[in-house]
Amino acid sequence: MARTALVTGGSRGIGAAISIALKEAGYDVAATYAGNDEAAAKFTAETGIKTYKWNVADYDECVAGIASVEADLGPVDVLVNNAGITRDAPFHKMTREQWTQVMDTNLSGLFNMTHPIWPGMRDRKFGRVISISSINGQKGQFAQANYSAAKAGDIGFTKALAQEGARAGITVNAICPGYVATDMVMAVPEKVRESIIATIPVGRLGEPEDIARAVVFLASDDAGFITGATLTANGGQYMT
Ligand code: CAA
Repeated sequence: MARTALVTGGSRGIGAAISIALKEAGYDVAATYAGNDEAAAKFTAETGIKTYKWNVADYDECVAGIASVEADLGPVDVLVNNAGITRDAPFHKMTREQWTQVMDTNLSGLFNMTHPIWPGMRDRKFGRVISISSINGQKGQFAQANYSAAKAGDIGFTKALAQEGARAGITVNAICPGYVATDMVMAVPEKVRESIIATIPVGRLGEPEDIARAVVFLASDDAGFITGATLTANGGQYMT
């Protein structure tokens, strides 16, 4: 029987590539999205992957949403915490709201999504939790005190939970993408973006599929001995 995978923010950008790659690898896939109904409907029409609308920053919405996914597809075996937002501003201009929105989505979102799914994974003695952190959680980034803090937190979350999941057959890993050609990165002012690309040794932005392939590997049985890891995929921009 096919395993079930749930990808947050799974209808656009890196998340869409992950959803598609998991489907192609034989998983039953559900993708969540927060707001863009049009993009989600288009994604479902093109891929056949069902989309579910809720806000990962809201715990109760996660509990209800996960219940509806599990009613449709069965228990979640693979959770990909991909949903993320930016609210970039130099710290002296950053508002409390910009801080809170990013922490609520990019860090608390991992708690909100993983916590309701975790007991079932423990009972079934199998699970994969893969969280999409960022190069900027590793190296820090000008104008991203909020985002860098949340993404560094995702790595700490991963390392702690990996220890708890190990004996229950659950692996917990993080992937740190570098700058990938998505709407999020294309929203960076062009001149700034060009200056960033100049610092990437491979000489290009990543493609969403570069990240999706890593997710498929970490989800597979072949990766059963890999847990608590932070997999860097950034074209050599930052070497840890
Ligand atoms: N290091 C040092 N100084 C920098 C800098 C940097 N990396 N970037 C900008 N500055 C300087 C500017 O030169 C400018 O200096 P002056 O005032 O002396 O000219 C100052 O900082 C910025 O002041 P502004 O008033 O122009 O700033 P702003 O309020 O308009 O904000 C910005 C602009 C938000 C910082 C914009 O430049 C920006 O978006 N930068 C990119 C940030 C970034 O890389 N975000 C990543 C998004 S993609 C992502 O997050 C995905 C992922 O995981 C990789």
